[in-house]
Amino acid sequence: MPAQHDLIIRNGTVYDGSGGPGMRADVGVRGDLIAAVGDLADATGGEEIDASGQAVVPGFIDVHSHDDMLVLVEPDVTGKTMQGVTTVVVGNCGSGVVPYQRARDGLMRALDVPDEFPTWSSYPQYLDVLDAHAPSLNVAVLVGHGTLRSGAMGGPAEQRPPSAEELVQMRGWLAEGLEAGAVGVSTGLIYEPGRYTETAELIEMAKECGRIGGLYASHIRGEGATLLDAVSEAIRIGEEGGCPTQISHHKATGEANWGRVHESLALIEQARSRGLDVLADQYPYIASSTGLAAIALNAREGGAGMDGESIFIASAPRTPQHEGKYLSAIADELDLPLDDAIDKLLGDNSRTVTIVAFGMDEADVRTVLRHESTMVGTDGLGWGSRPHPRHFGTYPRILQHYVREEGVITLEAAIQKMTSMPAEQFRLTDRGYVQEGLAADLVVFDPAAIVDHATFEDPRNAPSGMPHVIVNGAAVVRDGEHTHARAGRALRRGG
Ligand code: CU
Ligand code: ZN
Repeated sequence: MPAQHDLIIRNGTVYDGSGGPGMRADVGVRGDLIAAVGDLADATGGEEIDASGQAVVPGFIDVHSHDDMLVLVEPDVTGKTMQGVTTVVVGNCGSGVVPYQRARDGLMRALDVPDEFPTWSSYPQYLDVLDAHAPSLNVAVLVGHGTLRSGAMGGPAEQRPPSAEELVQMRGWLAEGLEAGAVGVSTGLIYEPGRYTETAELIEMAKECGRIGGLYASHIRGEGATLLDAVSEAIRIGEEGGCPTQISHHKATGEANWGRVHESLALIEQARSRGLDVLADQYPYIASSTGLAAIALNAREGGAGMDGESIFIASAPRTPQHEGKYLSAIADELDLPLDDAIDKLLGDNSRTVTIVAFGMDEADVRTVLRHESTMVGTDGLGWGSRPHPRHFGTYPRILQHYVREEGVITLEAAIQKMTSMPAEQFRLTDRGYVQEGLAADLVVFDPAAIVDHATFEDPRNAPSGMPHVIVNGAAVVRDGEHTHARAGRALRRGG
């Protein structure tokens, strides 16, 4: 009797995620697991995919996402699944889902949330909700420190340290989340309330990760003039907390700071050579994207003006006519000075405005991408009519532009940064490689033909040349079309 598989992907070149070279092999899947990798000529598959001329790789793990609510509001998560992402790590930049009402006030304000929407009162319950309302991809969860702090202290604007009871409350929520399988804690130290948080409070958070498990992921306190101090602070927090540190969306912003990534990378290297576990992630673009309120606040406090020519509106739910327009053009239209135009935009939209800002150097993007400490994450914000293209095109852009066209990194290295490196660092131990016995999260694409179609002008486009995406053994994308399979689940740290 020939061996029977539910699915066989035949004749592809398998890049197993380890960074090693591709090898011609078939991949057999049974249920939600990879059952065999090798020559399966004698085996039959209930379903078969011919991958001749294509690469077969582990599903991409997006370590930096803000899809906490999106996976429930739009369970197909097309922006991610169509680009090969099979797992998102949510809860980044300090912004999480507990307590619930604080999360709704934050992450969900920009989304069209249906009336029938699940609720939860803790991280264990949120993980159960994810399992019950399975989206198309897997979800691993970071606990957002900022949301905990707002919840414990009565709002995001508190500029004092927490009281002893408030700190106990925050640590309690965090510990409960980590014990249920959250992959760590995140902070956002340019945002409210993270910006009012002293290092000592953050070390207290990191100690919970040191005690229970999980890493400290941080949108650090500054990515411009204060980049090096901010990286040093993050490293210190992980060191004193006794847990790994993840520097989120590693970059240097503002022309005066271009080139500083050489020094920030050196800080990471020094920490690693002392035995500390410090890594970073990156999205491959020279533009960032975030909330207008936060960058306006930081610019004003820093005494720096905003450059209206380099910033356009991604989403403004109540004044959508402004989406896609540069701040300078909006100020002209409103016949207001730039700062007043910004205040009007924020006021008209209950402060829920996101922007795209061009402020990075292409050479820095390449330097960071090349570095051994860097893995890939999108930082996608998938709402509004002109979101940053990273939510749709991060992975194909690297594979097309930085691997095939520019040769900045090899295909093997790119795959490793998208798969096993995130799986190892976020302790998702049951996936990240094409290997017998691991979860069948797989992507089939043509390295010679993949094209990224997500642009700043027209971001909501899937790539071409990536026909199949498999999540836990089920085809979520088949022949380039989303199947609406809801094959994802909540992932717990340690598998
Ligand atoms: Cu982020
Ligand atoms: Zn961030």
